[in-house]
Amino acid sequence: MPTDPRPIGVFDSGIGGLSVLKHLARLLPQETFVYLGDTARVPYGNKSAETVRTYSSQCAAFLLTHDVKMIVVACNTASALALDVLRSMVSVPVIGVIEPAAREAAERTRNGHIGVIGTRATIASDSYARSIERFSNGRKLDVHSRPCPLFVPLVEEGWLDSPATRLVAEEYLRPLIANGIDTLVLGCTHYPLLNTVLTAILPGVELIDCGECAAVDALRVLETGPQEPLHMPLIYLYVTDHTPAFTMLARQFLGMPVDEPVRVNVEHLVLPPDIR
Ligand code: DGL
Repeated sequence: MPTDPRPIGVFDSGIGGLSVLKHLARLLPQETFVYLGDTARVPYGNKSAETVRTYSSQCAAFLLTHDVKMIVVACNTASALALDVLRSMVSVPVIGVIEPAAREAAERTRNGHIGVIGTRATIASDSYARSIERFSNGRKLDVHSRPCPLFVPLVEEGWLDSPATRLVAEEYLRPLIANGIDTLVLGCTHYPLLNTVLTAILPGVELIDCGECAAVDALRVLETGPQEPLHMPLIYLYVTDHTPAFTMLARQFLGMPVDEPVRVNVEHLVLPPDIR
């Protein structure tokens, strides 16, 4: 059993963050997780930095009411725009998805050309490029970034490997192929589900799954190795809006069946004066 029995908090703009929780649950099956999907206000990817910071702070405050020992920001957009704010606001460790994936990309690239794809807000923030530079160890690394906003609705439509998705992916990725990338950071919760299409279009290119990298980082922060899968991890799901599509989509992102989520009224997501 974990030495600290408090749960790990995870939040995302919606259900996409379950692709990150999937890796956390795989490596830390003895932990308890509290997941909040802000499904009433998704997407964050085309909102202003100020709005994303406010929403993210409210999500973190909600998780703290569950006495979490750590917060994993599963959303790339929130990680890109709100991580500093969150870290200054709360006293538990806050893990984002960008730093771990940037470190992995900087280590894995052979030719120094790294592609990054994400939402418009994530790419506009330049967070990945700055973070990759920080992990370059003085080596010259070229980061080629491209927003791919159509991928999110395609995944949510369940078009994971359809001709239309291939066409869109070819269009988005053409410039990155021309740049000669050998590593591609999937900088959005939804993109790992497009693995089949991306692998077909980018043979030989290493795909970096930020959820997997963040889960490894969580192990480091908790100072533990992968846990024995003694039982299924306990997962408490909360959403700010509940639609019939939830169960099917959640299962797809998490890779296992899920219980019905508990709905939280978005009006109740407020920032208490002191959320430490
Ligand atoms: N979860 C978001 C991300 O990883 C994608 C969906 C959204 O735009 O909110 O950036």
